[in-house]
Amino acid sequence: MPTPTLDHPAMTAGAIPFAVPQSRWDADRAAGLTPEQLLLYRSNLLGSDLTVTNFGGGNTSAKLSGTDPLTGQPVDVLWVKGSGGDIGSMALDGFATLYQDKLLALGAHYAGPDDDDTMVGYLPHCTFNLNGRAASIDTPLHALLPFAHVDHVHPDAIIALAASSGGEAATQEIWGGRIGWLPWKRPGYTLGVMLRDYVAAHPGVEGVMLAGHGIICWGDSAQACYEHTIALIADAARYLNARMADRPAFGGLVVAPNPDRAAIVTDLMPRLRGLMTGARRKLGHWSDDAEVLEFTGSARFEQLAALGTSCPDHFLRTKIAPLTLDPARLADQAYMSDRIAAYRARYAAYYQRCRRADSPAMRDANPVVVLVPGLGRITFATDKTTARLAGEFYGNAINVIRGAEAIGEYIALDEQEAFDIEYWLLEEAKLQRMPAPRAQVGRIVLVTGGAGGIGAATAARFLKDGACVVLADRDGDALETVRAGFARQFGTDVVRAAVCDVTSEDQVRAAFDLAAREFGGLDVLVANAGIASSAAIEDTTVALWRRNYDVLAEGYFLTARGAWPLLKAMKDQGGSAIVFIGSKNGVAAAAGASAYASAKAAANHLARCLALEGAPHGIRVNVVNPDAVIRGSRIWDGDWRKERAGTHGIDPGAELEEHYRNRSLLKRDVLPDDIAEACYFLGSDASAKSTGNMINVDAGNLQAFTR
Ligand SMILES: NC(=O)c1ccc[n+]([C@@H]2O[C@H](COP(=O)([O-])OP(=O)(O)OC[C@H]3O[C@@H](n4cnc5c(N)ncnc54)[C@H](O)[C@@H]3O)[C@@H](O)[C@H]2O)c1
Ligand SMILES: [Zn+2]
Repeated sequence: MPTPTLDHPAMTAGAIPFAVPQSRWDADRAAGLTPEQLLLYRSNLLGSDLTVTNFGGGNTSAKLSGTDPLTGQPVDVLWVKGSGGDIGSMALDGFATLYQDKLLALGAHYAGPDDDDTMVGYLPHCTFNLNGRAASIDTPLHALLPFAHVDHVHPDAIIALAASSGGEAATQEIWGGRIGWLPWKRPGYTLGVMLRDYVAAHPGVEGVMLAGHGIICWGDSAQACYEHTIALIADAARYLNARMADRPAFGGLVVAPNPDRAAIVTDLMPRLRGLMTGARRKLGHWSDDAEVLEFTGSARFEQLAALGTSCPDHFLRTKIAPLTLDPARLADQAYMSDRIAAYRARYAAYYQRCRRADSPAMRDANPVVVLVPGLGRITFATDKTTARLAGEFYGNAINVIRGAEAIGEYIALDEQEAFDIEYWLLEEAKLQRMPAPRAQVGRIVLVTGGAGGIGAATAARFLKDGACVVLADRDGDALETVRAGFARQFGTDVVRAAVCDVTSEDQVRAAFDLAAREFGGLDVLVANAGIASSAAIEDTTVALWRRNYDVLAEGYFLTARGAWPLLKAMKDQGGSAIVFIGSKNGVAAAAGASAYASAKAAANHLARCLALEGAPHGIRVNVVNPDAVIRGSRIWDGDWRKERAGTHGIDPGAELEEHYRNRSLLKRDVLPDDIAEACYFLGSDASAKSTGNMINVDAGNLQAFTR
C-alpha cells in the first residue's frame, strides 16, 4: 500500500510546521500616536496575526498617566482590554480603564484562592472616568505586575510548550531562565498574585509561561513589548519545527485524505444535524484543511482526540472532547445515532461526576466537534459563525497537540478544572444576561429566484431574524450582486449563492448539496423562481406553453423533490416547511395568460399533494399568492408589463401601478416585502400548525377568494 500523503505547502518529510511570526511594527504609522493609541496599535497588530493569538484570545495593557476628573490631579491608570471583544479588531472603547492605586489596594480584601470570585466583584469599584467597559477576569494579571506594558497571548506554538510534559524543560532550553514557568491555575486574582510573587523572586525575568494556557510578557514601551512578544513566539515555533521536521506527526498518517470527501460530507452533515436534537437547531461547518487531515488520519488520532483540549479558550468553544466517527460505517444510520446518543450520555456522566452543589443546570449535551479520518472536521453550533469559530479553535488545539507531542506528552486540561470553567457561576451569569437569540437563528432557508424582487426580499426577511440563506437563481450576475449586498449587511458567514436553473435536475441537486455542505441541511424551501408570459390562446406557441410549465410546474416539482430528504431529516426537531410562490392567477382565471395561469395552478395543486405526503415527515407545504407586485419585480420590467397594460388598455408607465392599486379591494400597492412577510410566517414556527393552505397577498381581490 502506498504511504498516504497530504497536500500542504510548508510540509517537508515530517509534520506540518508552525508559522514563524515576524514583527509588523511600522515606525511611520506609530510616529505621532498618543500612548493610548500606541496601545491600541500594538493590540490590533498582535490580534490580527493568527500566528500570535486565536480569535478573541489574549489581552494587552498599559499603565498610563491620566487626569482625575474630580481632582484634576495626575493619576496612574491601567488601560487593559475589557471583557469580550477581540484585540485584533477592537477600538479604544474596548479597553477598561481603572485606577492603578485602587487596584493595588484591593489586596486588602484577598485572603487566598477561595476569594477569586469575590475579587471579581471589586473590579468595577476601581473604574476610572466612568468607563462602562467591564474589566475582564485577567485584569489582576496585568495590574499586579510592576511593568508599564504587558501582553498576554495564546499562540499555538507557545501553548504547545505550555501543554507538554516536556514544556518546562524546553522553556529552560530555549530561554535559559529569561522566561519563567508557573503551573496551571485558572485565570483570576490568585494567578495575578502568583505572577507578582514569581517576578519578585526572579529579578530580571522577561516573561512567564502559564502551564496549559499561554504566556505573559512585558516591555518598557509599546514597541518593545510587541517585539518581545513576537520574538518569543518565533523562538517557540522554530524550536518545535526543528523537532518536527523529520518525524511525522501523531505517529504518522494511516488514513489518506478521501478524494470523494466533499460528496461524503454533503450526505453526512444533514444526517448528523438531524440527530442533534435539543432546544435549538444547529448550523454546521466543515473543514478539510491539511492540519485536520493530518490529525484525523494519523495512527494516534483516537487516543489523542479522547484527551480533549488544553487551553481554556479552546475548551470553552469545543466542549470537553470531540466525537469521532468510523469512516467505514457512515452509511449505517443506527451506528450514527448510537454514536451521538453515546456522546450525550458521556457528557451527562461528566456533568454528574464533576458538578458542585451550586452548579448551573446541565447545558446542551450534543457534540460540537465531529472528526472523521479522511474527511476532516465538522463543527456544529447554534449559528454559523460560532460553528466556524469552534472549528478554528479545534484547529488551534490540533496544532497544540502536534507541538506538545514533539517534545514530550501532550497534557490536556484536568476534567474537574474544565468543568469548573464551563460551569463557572460568573460565566453562567454572563450567559443569562445575553439577549435571547433571534427567532430564525439555527435555521437554513433556500430561496429559488433569490436574485429577483420577491426572492431577495424573502431572503432578507429571514436573514434579518438570524437565518442562514442559500440564494439560487439562474441569473449569475444578479445573484452575485444580491449575495454581496447581503454579505455586507448580514455577514459573509450566513449567505451562499448557487447559480441554478430550476429546470435542470443536476443544478437543483447541486444547490441543495451546497446547503448541506455549507450549512448542514435545510429547514425551509421557498420555491419562487418564476417567469410570466401573456398571450391569447391562439397565439400561445408550444414553446411558450412549455417554457411556463418547465419553470413553474416542473421547476417547482424539481426543487421540492430536491429539498425533500433534507427537510425529512428535521422531523425530530419540530419539522420543516416548503413555501410555494403561486399567483392570484393560479386561482382566478386570467384572460390572455392561460399558459402562465394554468402552470401556476398546477404548482398550487402540487403544493396540496405535497402537504398530504409531507405531513408524516413533519414537512408543511403552503402557498403565497401575490398579485401585481410591480415595484422591485423584474418580471414587470419586461414584456409582461407592456402585454398586461395592453390587455387592460392602459399606459405601461406610471398608470399601471395606479390601475392595479385601484383594482384592489384595499386600494393599496403590494410590495415584495409584503410577500416576504407571508413567506416568513409560513416558513417559521408561527405557522407550525398550518399546512395545505394559501395566503393571498394581493391587497384584496374578490376573484381570488378561496372557497
Ligand atoms: N410580481 C408579481 O406581480 C407576481 C405576481 C404573482 C406571482 N409572482 C411570482 O413571484 C415569483 C417571483 O417573481 P418576481 O416578481 O420577484 O420576479 P423577478 O423577475 O424579480 O424574480 C424572479 C427571479 O427568478 C429567476 N428565475 C427565472 N427563471 C428561473 C429558472 N428557470 N431557474 C432559476 N431562476 C429563475 C429570475 O432570474 C429572477 O431573478 C415568480 O414565481 C412569479 O411568478 C409575481
Ligand atoms: Zn489567557
